[in-house]
Amino acid sequence: MKTNGRWMCVGSQTGIPVREGRMADVGGHEIAVFNLGDRAVAVENRCPHRGGPLSDGIVAGDTVVCPLHAWKICFSTGSVLRPAEMACVSTYPTRVQDGYIYVSLPIEASQEAAPSPGPMPAPAADTPPASGIGCV
Ligand code: FES
Repeated sequence: MKTNGRWMCVGSQTGIPVREGRMADVGGHEIAVFNLGDRAVAVENRCPHRGGPLSDGIVAGDTVVCPLHAWKICFSTGSVLRPAEMACVSTYPTRVQDGYIYVSLPIEASQEAAPSPGPMPAPAADTPPASGIGCV
């Protein structure tokens, strides 16, 4: 899991049904964000097999099953669990604050995405997300 990044708001948690994912485009980086009900998780949106969109996959416990050929990927480690392949996807730290999902992106990715430096403040309660699933 990548750390020392910048927290970016990717949308409201209620904007994603529980146990489903959505793609968030953050500065050209496609990230699959999943609402697991009690938390949110985020991984690279590109399956290491043939690039399937993991955000369209089926959530099974702490894993997502790719919609194209059913490779099973662990949310915690990003590792492919089935088949037994030495492959993985990037994972990103997430947090939910005031109903919004924040993803910590690597510095280089967040610099491309962010118009100004500094951490993104929590949106005001009456401020709707800007685009997509949220306020990216
Ligand atoms: S592209 Fe994901 S399993 Fe083939």
